[in-house]
Amino acid sequence: MDTQSTQIIILGGTGDLSQRKLLPALLDLFSRGMLPTVFHIVGLARSQWGREEYRSFVRKAISEHNPHLEHSEEQISDFCNHISYVSGSFDDATSYDRLKETLDTFDTQQGTPSNRLFYLAVPPKFYGQIFTDLKTTKTAIEFESTWTHILVEKPFGNNLATAQKLDVLLAELYREDQIFRIDHYLAKEAVQNILSFRFANTLTQTPWNKDSISSVHIKMFEKIDVGARAGFYEGVGALRDVGQNHLLQLLALVAMREPESFDIESIRTLRAEVLSALKPVSADTLADTVLRAQYQGYQAIADISPDSQTETYFEMKTEVELEEWEGVPFYIQAGKALNRAEVSITINFSDIASGLFETKSCLSVGNKITLTISPEQTISITINAKSPGLGYQLESRTLSFTCDKEPTEIKNSYEKVLYDSIIGDQTLFTKTQEVLAAWEYITPILDMWHDLPLHTYKKDSEGPDKTILNI
Ligand code: BG6
Repeated sequence: MDTQSTQIIILGGTGDLSQRKLLPALLDLFSRGMLPTVFHIVGLARSQWGREEYRSFVRKAISEHNPHLEHSEEQISDFCNHISYVSGSFDDATSYDRLKETLDTFDTQQGTPSNRLFYLAVPPKFYGQIFTDLKTTKTAIEFESTWTHILVEKPFGNNLATAQKLDVLLAELYREDQIFRIDHYLAKEAVQNILSFRFANTLTQTPWNKDSISSVHIKMFEKIDVGARAGFYEGVGALRDVGQNHLLQLLALVAMREPESFDIESIRTLRAEVLSALKPVSADTLADTVLRAQYQGYQAIADISPDSQTETYFEMKTEVELEEWEGVPFYIQAGKALNRAEVSITINFSDIASGLFETKSCLSVGNKITLTISPEQTISITINAKSPGLGYQLESRTLSFTCDKEPTEIKNSYEKVLYDSIIGDQTLFTKTQEVLAAWEYITPILDMWHDLPLHTYKKDSEGPDKTILNI
């Protein structure tokens, strides 16, 4: 780990993401000795607090949001002693002056300039102003021996045009190696395992294309509802929140060609190739390829307009216009406030069409591989086996295993995101071509789908009655 002193600035330091993920992840890294020896965490948010009030807030967030390791009171106090707070809003230029002063004071106390890591845990509408003000006020400054990294949460922009505009702005202000576009799904152990599963096994390598695969189904079912995030969620919706990024990234990992090596560029380029090959949705195909819905009661939440059209659930059917995937439907389904929590990818193989066990003569079913990402990382393979008894009837059997959990390993993907951005490893971050290709596919849907009905579903249910999934 870098021994250079490092300051980690969380813009949006009191938000839901900071409370649930970032602060607990930083404490975990600290307790494992994975933060730089000298570090300083600075929260920036609107609440008119001083340092001690923010430290109490951090303690509360940590105790409520269940970090992976047990931490002693001493460790927590020690961690909190590294934390400061600056109160201010993102659209007020004086906030950045105060932030700069806090960062510079720390450097002066240390007698050396520090690295600076800015984490934008804020709604995308603030990105443009923050990128600019951090630079013009010289808050995001690099000294000869230090680095400055900017971490940007998804969604990056609100559609293709805003993402392109932000990209141009970023490129004017910062170098590409300073920009870390986060998709924390890429940092999940189970998601990284997709490539090992596909390319380290002869069994799965050969038939991984249209010749054997009949469809792919990617799901993200969440039991949690919008909760305290209404302010962020309204106007963003499920498709931008998880579709444009996490779920399309899972699709890219399933469909991408084999990289020549594990280097950042090969993997990111091949993911981008898949995203650029997604079959565009047109007005003619819209109704058959997308569906949107909202859970009942969403419009009654404070901060949400009573006639809000924001979707909390969606389904999409797409295809990857690469030769090896021709005609294979990829179904994506995601929603909040459902009756179960599951993130998984199911690869459905075609039923056997000829030979001894030709479909018509015996009851075989197509093989199926399910890669479950959460709540537990499991891999299961459904095959046909002989049904015991007379004759050669078949029955389905499932082979499955759950990947072990090592309590000492990095488990929280945010720990990995933060750690990699400190050591400067961009492998698990998305590159601009991927983000733009995903927006290029999603934006026409967002532009057109207000013509489609917004279905509703009961909280804690399976989702809307209507579906476009044909699996
Ligand atoms: C976030 C979305 O990126 O991912 C949330 O903004 C979603 O709406 C979350 O709940 C899910 O992440 P995880 O790691 O809990 O599956």
